[in-house]
Amino acid sequence: MSAPASPSVLPPSVLVTGAAKRLGREIALTLAANGWRVAVHYRDSVEEARQTVADCARLTPGAQGFRTNLGNETAVRNLLPAVIEAFGQVDAVVHCASTFEHDTAATFSFAAMEKHMRSNAGAAILISQALHTHIAGRQTAQPDARGVVVNLLDQKLWNQTPDFVSYTLSKAALDAANSMLALALQPLVRVVGVAPVMGQHKPLLMGETLAERSASLPNHQSTDLDTKAAVLLALQEGSISGTTLLVEEEVPQAKPQAPAPAAGPLAPFVQPTRRHGRR
Ligand SMILES: NC(=O)c1ccc[n+]([C@@H]2O[C@H](COP(=O)([O-])OP(=O)(O)OC[C@H]3O[C@@H](n4cnc5c(N)ncnc54)[C@H](OP(=O)(O)O)[C@@H]3O)[C@@H](O)[C@H]2O)c1
Repeated sequence: MSAPASPSVLPPSVLVTGAAKRLGREIALTLAANGWRVAVHYRDSVEEARQTVADCARLTPGAQGFRTNLGNETAVRNLLPAVIEAFGQVDAVVHCASTFEHDTAATFSFAAMEKHMRSNAGAAILISQALHTHIAGRQTAQPDARGVVVNLLDQKLWNQTPDFVSYTLSKAALDAANSMLALALQPLVRVVGVAPVMGQHKPLLMGETLAERSASLPNHQSTDLDTKAAVLLALQEGSISGTTLLVEEEVPQAKPQAPAPAAGPLAPFVQPTRRHGRR
């Protein structure tokens, strides 16, 4: 698949937050491989970010790095304008950066909640707001200009465990923000959630082996490949907004079909599916 046609001669451009390493880097590389100019956001991972920029630039020229602490509101407000200044325009944002610190109901604090809320939910809202302002400002010269925001969620929201309380609250807030932003920013900016299953965070899980954790989930592990494909789909498919793509690796085993009735009204066996919706 290739990136959607841009009204300008430049390739479309995307800001990927938390793109120095892990999932963010993989997403950045996938987008660069599909013709996107990538703004690689990072905070502390300076060397990794430099490598990601270089690797993205080899795939689609023009990648650059942008260092911002997403816990700082002023810095967050300055991020997208900085990318716009460097790139000329921005078409999409993938908010992958995330604070992920362990706490429980017993250790929860306002400080931990605020730290997670700032980078995981607040920053995503401010950057979405900035993208909408930018796309609105392009309408006179480019009436077809549209933007898209993809916010990384977590399937923990739909398969609850009692740990990572502050992190989970921030992702629940981001999920709610996605719905509201999709309504508020339409038709200029689409907003889509992509929710991987806990996978790469496994070393941080307290007292649980991956196998135990995986077995507790109805649909096992996701892979980076799934998540990258879901992000790409969300960016490219102009009809998706206000919903979340739950990334699944394994399709549940088909249950044996009930024998078809010999006659009478059609009563097909419908494979039950896990529904994504409000809890
Ligand atoms: N990995 C999984 O298994 C999994 C499962 C479900 C959902 N997800 C979601 O997918 C996304 C990516 O997952 P991941 O495991 O790759 O993420 P991660 O490694 O936990 O974090 C990604 C990056 O976020 C950046 N970051 C954290 N706090 C920041 C702040 N205050 N300001 C700026 N940057 C900050 C860090 O950048 P620096 O290193 O540059 O400081 C970090 O490298 C996350 O949103 C996560 O919630 C992941």
